[in-house]
This record gives sequence, C-alpha cells and structure tokens, in this order.
Amino acid sequence: MTHPVLIAPSILSADFARLGEEVRAIDEAGADWIHVDVMDGHFVPNITIGPAVVKALRPHTAKIFDVHLMIAPVDPFLDDFAAAGSDIITVHQEAGPHLHRTVQRIKALGKKAGVSLNPATPAKTLDYILEEIDLVLVMSVNPGFGGQSFIESQLRKIEAIRKMIDKLGKPIDLQVDGGVDKATAPRVIAAGANVLVAGTATFRGGPGAYADNIAGLRAGPVEG
Ligand code: DX5
Ligand code: ZN
Repeated sequence: MTHPVLIAPSILSADFARLGEEVRAIDEAGADWIHVDVMDGHFVPNITIGPAVVKALRPHTAKIFDVHLMIAPVDPFLDDFAAAGSDIITVHQEAGPHLHRTVQRIKALGKKAGVSLNPATPAKTLDYILEEIDLVLVMSVNPGFGGQSFIESQLRKIEAIRKMIDKLGKPIDLQVDGGVDKATAPRVIAAGANVLVAGTATFRGGPGAYADNIAGLRAGPVEG
C-alpha cells in the first residue's frame, strides 16, 4: 500500500538574502510543508539559522513549519523554536542522552514531535520512543549540507520503519531527507516514506521552476 505523498522543500537551498520571498514562492508552487534546517556547527559541521529567522518567516506562509534541529544540546532551545512558530520539531536520536524527555517537552509545548536517525543509526533505536512521536525522519545523507548523494542503504531502513509504524497502527509520518530528487523519490516512496524533503531538487532552476520541480517529486509509484 502507498501513502499520500507530501513535499517539504528545504529552505537550505533557497536564496538566503530573499528568504521571505522564497518561502512565499514555494508555498504558491505547491509545497505541503516548509522544512527548516537548523545547524549549530557542533552536532553538524555547518551553521545555518536560529529561532529569530523562523519567527521572521512565520508571517510569510500559513503552511506547516517543519523544523529539523541538527543541534546539541537541543533541550535549551526547544521553547524558543516553539515560540517562533514551529509546528513540527524534529530532534536527532544522536543529539542527547534523554530523548524521551526531549520528546515529552516538545509535546508539552503543544508541538508535533519528530525523531531523526543519522545514516548509521539503526531503525531499532526507535523502540520505546516510536509510540510517543508524530514523525520519523530518516537521514539519507550525513546531515550538514545540501546537494549530497542519496545513501542507498537507507531504503532498507525506510522499509523497516514503515513496518514498525504499520504494526503500531498510529498515524506517524515517515520522512526522508537528503539526496531526494526525481530519480530517488519514487524509490523512497515505494519503500514506504510519505514525506519527502528536497532542497536542491526544489530550488534548481529558480522560482519559475519550483512548481514543476515539486510536482515532479510528488509523482510516485502507482498504488498497487
Ligand atoms: C541536510 C539537511 C537537508 C538538506 C537536503 O543536512 O537536513 O534538509 O537540505 O538537501 P538536498 O535535498 O539538497 O539533498
Ligand atoms: Zn533537513
């Protein structure tokens, strides 16, 4: 069985000097969620944006702000990202020792909670946390930069997590992030993902191409 596919363009590949305009453009081009990549130069080797930017972008769209925190520690910043207008807050399994507590805090802030797994982190680490969360994010590249190649082994992980979610019977989104393009999108959808993050593949070609880029990613395998 396949699931309705949502596209979450990553603004990491947008023109940072015109971020508000870029967010409006992908909204109008059919983005389902707006994926915001937050990096700290510590958990990952790159620095991007903080809660002030999320807050500044909030008036530019009514779509879901899907905030991917690649930061450690993460707990001291949850309140700020919630207050800035995040709808989903995703944290990394590898970013701290108290994942369950972190997830409880996100939920207490009234936000949806996601957990992300780096490429070498097994699906099994979701035991005892899956039932608490709204989203699983499978990293199909090592987090830190856009424009990297899709890591094939993550297809097996997506399949394994899809089985875990279906067994649990809860409406948990299964998101994939990194190297998603027209070639890999149908494969991750077939493996069981229902939310695709795409930076490079959304923003290539400039604003005139965004609608076609997003539609091209959504066209997954036919239900079978
Ligand atoms: C990587 C980020 C991704 C990244 C994806 O650390 O989490 O969201 O922007 O970029 P592309 O789609 O270019 O691989
Ligand atoms: Zn991301």
